[in-house]
Amino acid sequence: MNAINSAYALDIDTCSEQATKVRHSIQGNEPHVFTDIYSEEVNIAIWQRNLSSTLTGSVADFLTEKPRFKASMTVSPQSVLESISESLGTEMSELSENIAELVEMFCCLFELKRVGLRLTVVDSAMCPKFHVDNVPCRLITTFQGVGTEWLPHQVADREKLGRGSNGKSDSESGIYQNEKEIQQLNCGDVALLKGEHWEGNEQTGLVHRSPALGADERRLILTLDFSY
Ligand SMILES: [Fe+2]
Repeated sequence: MNAINSAYALDIDTCSEQATKVRHSIQGNEPHVFTDIYSEEVNIAIWQRNLSSTLTGSVADFLTEKPRFKASMTVSPQSVLESISESLGTEMSELSENIAELVEMFCCLFELKRVGLRLTVVDSAMCPKFHVDNVPCRLITTFQGVGTEWLPHQVADREKLGRGSNGKSDSESGIYQNEKEIQQLNCGDVALLKGEHWEGNEQTGLVHRSPALGADERRLILTLDFSY
């Protein structure tokens, strides 16, 4: 085989290897479901939880009062409660404690000293098209509003990501065959989304997007990322 043919064969091998990689989701009612993110075949781990009515009520009041709220900070498990309480105000102690707990879990799970935290109110889809994140793993949860949408690995046509969509919308690009294949997190669910920078997860990062929002609809979203 000449050099061109062998390079071509290598390309074919790489493509077919990506196509045959198995990835799936895992969900559970307890946070220990997060440890399954270390399984090579898992690219999203979802802790399904219900928010208390007191938390939901205080978040709704907060969004009415601060409809443009945005906070971005680097925190450690030791500093998070003080930092987030300062940002949100003392009347939001239940939300602050909830967030601090998630930061502690995320740091413990990935042996991190610090995380990048973003807590944001959005009134339009931030990332409206399906995409993958160039991070090792991101935690995402929605405290108010509809949750993130995602596609199971086996139904997503990755060649239609980014420029591969040729500027077409998700419903026209062919990234999925049937709208019923689109999955959605519930408000309160906490998900770990494995990205493209997780070793061994190249070409298999979770495909996801922000959900469309109606007029006057707002979401409060928390994301946590690795910080070194
Ligand atoms: Fe994303």
